[in-house]
Amino acid sequence: MKNFWINTYGCQTNGHESDRLSHMLKSLGLVDATSAEESDVLIFQTCSIRNTAAQKILTHISQAKKLRRKSGRKQIICVIGCLSAEEKKYKEFDGVDIVLGSNQLETLVEMLCGEKPDTRFGTGYSIIIQHGCENFCSYCIVPYVRGKEYSRPVDEIVKELEEIKSTDKVIYLLGQNVNSYKCPTTGTDFVGLLDRLCGLEGDFVLNFMSSHPKDFDRRVVDSIFRNKKIERNIHLPMQSGCDKILSAMNRGYTVKDYLEKIEMLRKTVPDVRITTDIICGFPDETPEDFLKTVEVFKLIKFNSAFIFPYSRRTGTVADKMDNQIDDKEKRKRTTMLLEIQRGLV
Ligand code: 5AD
Ligand code: SF4
Repeated sequence: MKNFWINTYGCQTNGHESDRLSHMLKSLGLVDATSAEESDVLIFQTCSIRNTAAQKILTHISQAKKLRRKSGRKQIICVIGCLSAEEKKYKEFDGVDIVLGSNQLETLVEMLCGEKPDTRFGTGYSIIIQHGCENFCSYCIVPYVRGKEYSRPVDEIVKELEEIKSTDKVIYLLGQNVNSYKCPTTGTDFVGLLDRLCGLEGDFVLNFMSSHPKDFDRRVVDSIFRNKKIERNIHLPMQSGCDKILSAMNRGYTVKDYLEKIEMLRKTVPDVRITTDIICGFPDETPEDFLKTVEVFKLIKFNSAFIFPYSRRTGTVADKMDNQIDDKEKRKRTTMLLEIQRGLV
């Protein structure tokens, strides 16, 4: 077993986990393969946030197994990440050699190489500060697959940053809801963490994502203003511009709250770039409800936006809601918003 290939799907956290995994495998002597087909170890870093993504990954896993069978090569196929939690549901997992969930990178490396990996962040530019999520937004699968929210101790994060800040100048602090960070040993909150990290010597800069509007408050904004090491890029997922839908999504804020936060942020940090996520066609979203989102969207003029058609995820509250919107309509709304965004930037 000499080389490996990682197929990464989904969010920033997955991208980061693949970087870490790659670094660990290299620390034990493995090298990058030239292609997925020719790799000794083929790893799927999966995501189950949207159904289309999950289906695509399952197809890719099946194709990989077929190719392996045809070529007669000895190849170890591994599936890690969110989709593994749904292993029992899918026949595509039959014949996969190793299936592990999120946060089990070290175990995977140990299983493959028979020894413990070097877990330092050699190429690391992103630092996970918090695992899991327990916000239970009604459309979202993450709390079910990534488990309870857990913040990593502040001293561990400081130590990691100390190790990488001379080689990696742009650092990303990652979590599903970074604003609710709370150190389990010292009780340090997110603002405390930012102040502590920005107080370290060096010419690095910090980014963080994702923020949750319900916890993004005056103190966080002041901390961005005061700490020049924090880059002026804030990702603040709005999801919808209609109160009825926000409430059905269990987001914990109203459109008015959201607009106030944007105004506070722009007043305090005038050169800020604001990006967002929007879901189109959530259950019971009428054309009038969607137009409310369009209006708010135009008003705010985001610097960039990730716009998704709502995707039904089994096990979530929204999946059981009445008045699901048909796919064509969801796509129409998504395209409309994308076109507006194109015109705005
Ligand atoms: N359907 C569509 N988009 C979703 N997201 C999360 N779950 C779903 C879903 N079921 C989007 C949200 C979130 C981003 C990471 O993915 O907008 O902010
Ligand atoms: Fe999903 Fe909501 Fe948690 Fe984000 S905050 S991961 S959308 S449940």
